[in-house]
Amino acid sequence: MKSFSTQNDKRIILIIGAGSKAAEAIGRVLAMSHGKYTIYWLTSGISKYIVPDGKTIFQGDFTNRKEIKDICLQLQPDMIINTAAYTDVDKSEIERQKAWQVNVIGVENLVAICRLTDAHLLHFSTDYIFDGEHGPYSETDKPNPLGYYAKTKMAGENACIGGNIDYTIIRTNVLYGATNALKQDFVMWTLKKLADGKRFSVVNDQYSNPTLIDDIGCLVDKIVRTRAKGIFHAGGSDWVSRYDFARMIAKIFREDESLLSPMTTEDLRQAAPRPLRGGVIPYKAETTFGMKFSGIESGLLTMRRQLQIAGHHEWTL
Ligand SMILES: NC(=O)c1ccc[n+]([C@@H]2O[C@H](COP(=O)([O-])OP(=O)(O)OC[C@H]3O[C@@H](n4cnc5c(N)ncnc54)[C@H](OP(=O)(O)O)[C@@H]3O)[C@@H](O)[C@H]2O)c1
Repeated sequence: MKSFSTQNDKRIILIIGAGSKAAEAIGRVLAMSHGKYTIYWLTSGISKYIVPDGKTIFQGDFTNRKEIKDICLQLQPDMIINTAAYTDVDKSEIERQKAWQVNVIGVENLVAICRLTDAHLLHFSTDYIFDGEHGPYSETDKPNPLGYYAKTKMAGENACIGGNIDYTIIRTNVLYGATNALKQDFVMWTLKKLADGKRFSVVNDQYSNPTLIDDIGCLVDKIVRTRAKGIFHAGGSDWVSRYDFARMIAKIFREDESLLSPMTTEDLRQAAPRPLRGGVIPYKAETTFGMKFSGIESGLLTMRRQLQIAGHHEWTL
């Protein structure tokens, strides 16, 4: 195993997908590491992103092998954290090439670079690799991806696992939390619908354990510190239906809960099949790293407070 490089005795970390929700939370936590790391960011430029002070950001396409290889040979990262993904589950059914390009070819490129440079790859995956028959799932459960997005994420995992590199995979589900750009997540979607003041329906048969992005930041910090390898499930401590999650959102953000009504997945007719009893059991991560993932109430209160501090009063009155 390669020891961490010592440019000014700092570990060099490259975060791919700078504009993702996960990357923003990871950046917030790693920034509190008292300068132990030199952090670089790669963005495709797809999303508007407010670059954290003092960080270095590159624009580039990690699905282009030469482009990402040149960047990595220049930076010589000790660890590459890949948060980038084609995350639109329904569009992935139609835009199959795009989804494969980002979720598989991009990951294969990173694996090849890690093999070449001995860098450690920390990669993000999803509970959607499971079929949702018997969730929530532990790390040892057998995957059976249903839709095309799920299949690309499974193939991305397999590229890491079979790549003969040091890798860590974090499987998570339903990420939410405050971001600079108020990126779309289930909470922001629900808040916007509630603000419209019209009645709307949310599925009551899709179960997950929504995960606060700040907890993802903490987990990544622990993995970076310990260089832990393998697969870790990362999910909040409450396992709920989307409908119940939406009700909690209305309650914590003091919106009108009566605008919500339940519906079934069958009636919603989403393009991609959904694992109904999804979610991940985070005990391995919690016991390995001595941490506890937030429940929904405390997670939403944290998000609300962060939005207030950031001046987004339109959502927090
Ligand atoms: N959100 C969830 O509920 C959820 C659930 C389970 C698993 N995950 C996994 O967790 C990870 C992070 O998810 P997230 O929700 O934080 O992501 P996100 O907010 O949807 O952002 C994904 C980022 O990927 C990058 N990206 C997208 N298309 C790209 C392309 N064609 N080429 C290069 N980069 C591209 C973009 O960043 P730049 O513009 O900066 O390049 C984009 O902001 C992903 O691997 C996702 O599959 C997420």
